[in-house]
Amino acid sequence: MSDQPGTRTLGSSSISLSEIGLGCNRIGEGTFCDEEWIQLLHRAVDLGVNVFDTAAQYAGGRSEELVGRAFGNRAGLVIATKVSPVKKGNGPTFTRTAVIRGAERSLRTLRRDRIDVFQTHGSGSLAELLEPEWVEAMALLKQQGKIRLRGAAVFSAEGGIYAIENDLVDVLQVTYNLLDTEHADPILPVAREHGVGLLARMPYQRGILTGKFSLAHPDASNHRARLQGDRLLDDIQAAERFRELAGNRPGGMPALAMQFVLAETRLSCTIPGARSVEQLEANLAAAAAPPLTSGERAVIAEIRSYLEAED
Ligand SMILES: NC(=O)c1ccc[n+]([C@@H]2O[C@H](COP(=O)([O-])OP(=O)(O)OC[C@H]3O[C@@H](n4cnc5c(N)ncnc54)[C@H](OP(=O)(O)O)[C@@H]3O)[C@@H](O)[C@H]2O)c1
Repeated sequence: MSDQPGTRTLGSSSISLSEIGLGCNRIGEGTFCDEEWIQLLHRAVDLGVNVFDTAAQYAGGRSEELVGRAFGNRAGLVIATKVSPVKKGNGPTFTRTAVIRGAERSLRTLRRDRIDVFQTHGSGSLAELLEPEWVEAMALLKQQGKIRLRGAAVFSAEGGIYAIENDLVDVLQVTYNLLDTEHADPILPVAREHGVGLLARMPYQRGILTGKFSLAHPDASNHRARLQGDRLLDDIQAAERFRELAGNRPGGMPALAMQFVLAETRLSCTIPGARSVEQLEANLAAAAAPPLTSGERAVIAEIRSYLEAED
């Protein structure tokens, strides 16, 4: 494939991102050996991807390890990782010590001198973001040059907006896809105004928006556990509403889903997960598909308002 992805700037930093990155939550899971995963990571770079989003807890730590082995200190890449929550009883979700030790551990595992984007990996609720310890720890790590940008993965508009307006973060990670823009929508203008970068996760709503499931054949993989039960079936049903529209365009459902995310230029990049080179290549192809037409945008808006009214 010759089409390299477009690039965008990460908030007000000088960092240039490929508009499609690689979400690394599946990297290191399953039966692939290390070399196969490393090949997948290298293939992503060959295809023009320069953003990788991992976390200390992905694949029990193997995801960070593989990213570290694949890239180490390689220049031109943007490696984002996350520190796990340590909440005990009424204590803080992220203690100062846990954030600092977490960064030091990730630096070693990633074999890097500096983490480009270091994010909290909690709920990102307002209550969590109001805790002072993670803020102090992130500021110290940035001052020491151990991290380049402070980040938080959020699932709440309230939390995200509070973090931006109080200068607690340089980057937020939000969910953004055809079925879910709920917390991201109010964050978008505030992030733009304050120069905060946005990493958009789950462009396929955990694979559902690739169109590969149906109500007759839903998926029960463990890694979609949070969407199992009613939520999984509701999302599959909702995704069905886009199938006819997707059938009329090059690239089908994956391309429609990806182009919907890429059309939001206030996002800095999207980070689809991939479990194989085939998925990775298909995702790059979806990003290289024709942008949404005005007709498609209108139909999408109609379907989305119908789905919202149903909720
Ligand atoms: N709390 C947080 O901070 C948080 C939470 C969620 C995600 N994230 C980040 O966001 C990234 C993306 O999220 P996600 O992976 O959950 O959701 P996603 O990007 O919407 O979906 C990715 C999953 O869909 C399937 N898939 C991908 N490409 C495909 C293709 N071309 N054809 C068919 N199936 C395909 C794969 O799973 P199967 O093969 O199993 O179907 C893949 O793991 C993660 O890797 C992570 O970096 C962060």
